[in-house]
Amino acid sequence: MEVWVCREEELRDGVVRTTRLGVDDDGIPIMALLLRGENGAIVAYRNLCRHLPVPLDGGTGELLSDDGAHLICGTHGATYRLHDGYCVEGPCEGLALQQLYVREEAGDLYVSDTSEPR
Ligand code: FES
Repeated sequence: MEVWVCREEELRDGVVRTTRLGVDDDGIPIMALLLRGENGAIVAYRNLCRHLPVPLDGGTGELLSDDGAHLICGTHGATYRLHDGYCVEGPCEGLALQQLYVREEAGDLYVSDTSEPR
């Protein structure tokens, strides 16, 4: 499944866009988050902590650390790098968020859970 998320120019540093991407094989909703990594490249991850199957923000919409340098899980504090989703601190240290796929077309950004061509 592929879903339109936003225009590329809307995705400034410190902005995280989220969208729903259907459900996984277990029937759990796939929530996607889209942002710019430290290097400015656009990345997307599933909004699901690697420690327990809960959204990073627990529904609050708060996904970034105070300084905007990391994604954080509000439940137990896992801290993930922006550019690769790698957990650098917290209960799931050494694991990485599930990567999703971003496609840009004429300034529109789409996210999907597969790299298969549309
Ligand atoms: S549920 Fe995310 S760090 Fe515990």
